[in-house]
Amino acid sequence: MAESKVGGSNDLNRREFFSWFWMGWITFSVAAGAIVTLLGRYLFPNVLFEKPSSFRAGPPTEFGLGVDERFKDTQSVWIVRVPEGIYALSTVCTHLGCTPNWLPNESKFKCPCHGSGFRMSGLNFEGPAPRPLERFAVSIDETGFVKIDKSRAIRFANQWSDPDFLLRG
Ligand code: FES
Repeated sequence: MAESKVGGSNDLNRREFFSWFWMGWITFSVAAGAIVTLLGRYLFPNVLFEKPSSFRAGPPTEFGLGVDERFKDTQSVWIVRVPEGIYALSTVCTHLGCTPNWLPNESKFKCPCHGSGFRMSGLNFEGPAPRPLERFAVSIDETGFVKIDKSRAIRFANQWSDPDFLLRG
């Protein structure tokens, strides 16, 4: 009888031991998972690696009359020279954001997605685009180069006379 009590007590101890063991193991696993997650967040933080919003395009004399497409792919900008000066157009269609193509023979930008057309000024004149292509701020930097600042944009034609968005000369 006494042996069976001792045996029962051993069973209880063994059960308790495994119960504590599993609880400890689960606690350890959860803590380890949390630490690994925090370590991952530390090693790979949520950082946006964005391109700088402004860039040097080159000396003003490099830009002849018409549309310069050198920065279309890398900066999403067309630099346009007209007799009055230089301005910078966004290559993002104001309908749903596709990239129009410059068609020199027709002297217009044509969007391949839904057919919007824009004059060389950026003015929308056909298709569903609701407003002109945006213009970015243009200036001459300290080295005499044309500088485009994409953090400053104007959206409507009645703003085009703003001297920050047309580099005269
Ligand atoms: S995205 Fe350009 S016309 Fe629709």
